[in-house]
Amino acid sequence: MAKTLHSGRVRALSGSALVPGDKSISHRALMLGALAVGESVVGGLLEGDDVLRTAACMRALGAEITRHEDGRWHLYGRGVGGLSEPADMLDMGNSGTGARLLMGLVATHPFTSFFTGDASLRSRPMRRVTEPLTRMGARFFTREGGRLPLAVIGTASPLPISYESPVASAQVKSALLLAGLNTPGETTVIEREATRDHTELMLRNFGADVRVEATETGGRAITVTGFPELTGRQFDVPADPSSAAFPAVAALLVEGSEIVLTGVGINPLRIGLYQTLREMGADLSFENRRDQAGEPVADLRVRASRLKGIDVPAERAPSMIDEYPILAVAAAFAEGTTRMRGLAELRVKESDRLAAMARGLAACGVVVEEEADALIVHGKGRAPAGDALIATHFDHRIAMAFLVLGMAAERPVAVDEAEAIDTSFPGFVALMNGLGAAITAEEEQRA
Ligand code: S3P
Repeated sequence: MAKTLHSGRVRALSGSALVPGDKSISHRALMLGALAVGESVVGGLLEGDDVLRTAACMRALGAEITRHEDGRWHLYGRGVGGLSEPADMLDMGNSGTGARLLMGLVATHPFTSFFTGDASLRSRPMRRVTEPLTRMGARFFTREGGRLPLAVIGTASPLPISYESPVASAQVKSALLLAGLNTPGETTVIEREATRDHTELMLRNFGADVRVEATETGGRAITVTGFPELTGRQFDVPADPSSAAFPAVAALLVEGSEIVLTGVGINPLRIGLYQTLREMGADLSFENRRDQAGEPVADLRVRASRLKGIDVPAERAPSMIDEYPILAVAAAFAEGTTRMRGLAELRVKESDRLAAMARGLAACGVVVEEEADALIVHGKGRAPAGDALIATHFDHRIAMAFLVLGMAAERPVAVDEAEAIDTSFPGFVALMNGLGAAITAEEEQRA
């Protein structure tokens, strides 16, 4: 069944809500818990399809993982280097993070594993991880263009490397750091631009030795020392700032709104969107700042605001890479032009997000220009027409972005393949409707 969702104009949003756990941190919690000695207990884990796939794969690799009735996940790890050969394909579904991080983890284990995923994941580039992992000694058999399905023949005698990634990618960095755990000596990743550092923070939290040094060219060198003793930990996953972005922007756009999103992760390498929205004139504040499992969190208060278009610096892209779809929606309501540059990576996400946003916004009556790595949105300072059925290409963030647009547009907006939302934000419709949205479902037979 393919699900179409409709979203129509609503009055002021109000109330407070807890969005689901951070997707990036949830994947890493399952992977490190599966490598630690002793029990880990994780609360607030994102129970979206992407993360559930990672849980299933870690079980297939030998970890004991159970979800207790109180919602906490209990993990008994196998120790660094202790994973065992999976008996079947590792099916990562829609998840690029799950696939790439796990490929790193198994690359330095002496067994063979097979990876696949859904049509979107099978079209995404994997050479960015297979190439450096090959230098560490692993071998890969891939489809044309380095795509899934692929086989990883893990190495029994891994070599530590120092690798400068040509793409700004936390997934590439994390795959190599995870591979470095079961590798003698020091494995170093050099990034020209800082990307989310959840792997580094969580590795330290579990007891690994991780060093971060500034490079002469303004980048960072991250080094992990092999064969650490990781020990089980108890922690709660912060709410996902990338998920909070959808209700937050909805509250900015729907007149008279005021909402609070509790316990949202505000890691400085994740909050580029909020900085950008403030520059556009958003009334948005972080209250009750605190620390949760080594990650900063806060309650996010958002009040409806009149926004103006701005130029978003290209260097900010890594800190808001998943937020461009919803930023483009905010830009569509703003007064003036918003230029978003440095977005080549958006073309290889769950869908070609540059193309999907440009087409969808145009269908809603927004004047938009799409360039090779840029999106330029000409806002009129008032609600766009809406009145379109958006092709999401099974991309959760495209679906959620246009449902938010529909909440403040002149006429309703519909999105196809809305079940993709469950990959990162289970309960999205109920949470949004609880704040005052009017999102309704229409079931239709998939062709
Ligand atoms: C992620 C890194 C980013 C991001 C993805 C999650 C992670 O991808 O888009 O949603 O958890 O490491 P890239 O590493 O490809 O930029």
